[in-house]
Amino acid sequence: MAIGVFDSGLGGLTVLKAAVEKLPDQAFVYYGDNANTPYGSKTDAEIYDLTIAGVTRLFEAGCDLVILACNSASAVALHDLQVNWLSGGKRVLGVFVPMIEELTRRDWGDNSPPTHTGLQNVALFATPATVSSGAFERELKFRARDVEVVGEACVGLVAAIEEGDTLGAEALVDAHVATLLETLPAPQAAVLGCTHYPLVEERFRAALPASTRILVQPDIVADSLVDYLRRHPRFVERGGVSYLTSGDPVEVSRSAERFLGHSLTFSAA
Ligand code: DGL
Repeated sequence: MAIGVFDSGLGGLTVLKAAVEKLPDQAFVYYGDNANTPYGSKTDAEIYDLTIAGVTRLFEAGCDLVILACNSASAVALHDLQVNWLSGGKRVLGVFVPMIEELTRRDWGDNSPPTHTGLQNVALFATPATVSSGAFERELKFRARDVEVVGEACVGLVAAIEEGDTLGAEALVDAHVATLLETLPAPQAAVLGCTHYPLVEERFRAALPASTRILVQPDIVADSLVDYLRRHPRFVERGGVSYLTSGDPVEVSRSAERFLGHSLTFSAA
């Protein structure tokens, strides 16, 4: 069956693109909840309900495995959804676990107590919803001892990127990085914990100290998916990629082209 990729809007296309590059024969269905974007400034209850609705739509489209490409949805909804809602052999995976595996070099199946991983501090750049959920820090500390996470809610950055306002986006990256560095002057690692931030990765690199290791999600998530499919081959199916949206398909297809630099055709969900 096709693998579903869910996002609040267009940002998850960065994750889908990397997944398709690594799994060119795999069938995917992308669902962007453009009618309700952005999630990053919504309440937890709103994000939870919208995420359930989006995942349900992908299940209806025949996807038994859904990736929550949206960090805000992963942070706020994934845990509850897995524990209290999911049933019947379906799987929903988020984007934090691959980052944490990469940071700690520990496999997710390894449930032994937290260890010293050599990681002392991490900067997390993300939406307000992701930062205030504390989910990334909680999951990381489940595996790594004595690690400090400093989060910076990058208010305004998603909107600037979506509007194609390069100068505005770069100024916001500079400002948010400067704010974080006041608390944590030399982060050992920085997580770009939002679907949109790979598009301004170079600006983050320029603004952060050269010694900071920067983790950008799409490739890390795609590598983790390749590994997951090796272990769970029942989700593998050959096919193409289709695109669904809760918004106006013509308008969303046009915005997607601006966002990714090539044309895509969305259908109404
Ligand atoms: N997809 C969201 C995320 O990764 C960013 C856009 C939004 O706020 O909806 O957190």
